[in-house]
Amino acid sequence: MKYRKLGSSDLSVSEISLGSWLTFGLGVDDSSGRACVDAAFDAGINFIDTSNIYGVGAAEEFLGRALKGRPRSSYILATKLFFPMTETDKGLSRAQVLKQIDLSLKRLGTDFVDLYQCHRYDQETPLEETMLALTEVVKAGKARWLGFSEWSPAQISAALAIPGVEKFVSSQPQYSIIARRHEPEVFPLCAKNGIGQIVWSPLAQGILTGKYKRGAPPPAGTRATSPEMGGFLSHWLTDENLAKVDRLRPIAERAGMSLAHLALAWVLRRPEVSSAIVGASRPEQVKENAAASGKTLTADLVAAIDAAVA
Ligand SMILES: NC(=O)c1ccc[n+]([C@@H]2O[C@H](COP(=O)([O-])OP(=O)(O)OC[C@H]3O[C@@H](n4cnc5c(N)ncnc54)[C@H](OP(=O)(O)O)[C@@H]3O)[C@@H](O)[C@H]2O)c1
Repeated sequence: MKYRKLGSSDLSVSEISLGSWLTFGLGVDDSSGRACVDAAFDAGINFIDTSNIYGVGAAEEFLGRALKGRPRSSYILATKLFFPMTETDKGLSRAQVLKQIDLSLKRLGTDFVDLYQCHRYDQETPLEETMLALTEVVKAGKARWLGFSEWSPAQISAALAIPGVEKFVSSQPQYSIIARRHEPEVFPLCAKNGIGQIVWSPLAQGILTGKYKRGAPPPAGTRATSPEMGGFLSHWLTDENLAKVDRLRPIAERAGMSLAHLALAWVLRRPEVSSAIVGASRPEQVKENAAASGKTLTADLVAAIDAAVA
């Protein structure tokens, strides 16, 4: 496993990290989840991403159980807040930031997270209030570094312009061969300001592994067939995207890689990307995905991929 520095922080994160949306505490049973966590450590993955909203606390609780007994210094833990935990507990007000960090730490069974992220921008709370509250969390030692997910360039710039507060070191955008909207503006703005990208759904929830085929029902045991996990996949599982995957198959063959490796090497080709956060329902997937670290693509292959999905 190779490691990259996360923005201007002192964190050295594995190129492939382990996510927990829809899987742990929700669609994947505890023993498979534990096997995925063990496989991650075995493969040198040191970075685990979660959120208070994943399974409405259940993913953090699962990780609290699964990580118990491992030295706290052996992994880098990231969580997030913003989405409604109850009808009234939501957003990024000072009261919520101070409340949600304590609840997350309790579920995770730790005194601090390495990275605390705003899961989205909160239009209802003055940005300065959020940044001051996050700074309090860092000063209290409950989070070491701060990040955001899916903020616009204007929102990122506004946060960076506030004096006397902790600065963001990470951005968590959706980024994959078929989801590139943050590339032109967010990537360069962040690079200039010491903010690394930790990218989500780099396999487009499994689509870029090639296991879903046009005109065929989704294979049994995949996210698309799962009542708990499939809901967010259906609008990506289109003929158009599956046709793109079909055009990527010969390119992966030419590269001598699986499609999953092609997709992960493709996001990691960008130096702005510190880590690809990959979800998994079984340990074999973690092992396979971790092996993408260090794989590179020639300029010819990158151009062929661009043409295949244009
Ligand atoms: N910040 C945000 O708003 C946000 C949003 C979404 C996700 N995230 C983060 O990003 C992480 C990753 O996102 P994600 O889970 O949606 O997408 P992903 O990593 O693109 O896809 C993960 C899913 O693909 C399948 N898969 C993984 N490796 C495979 C392999 N080698 N071969 C075949 N199938 C494979 C598995 O599903 P099945 O086996 O069930 O088919 C797995 O659960 C999340 O866990 C979360 O931590 C953040």
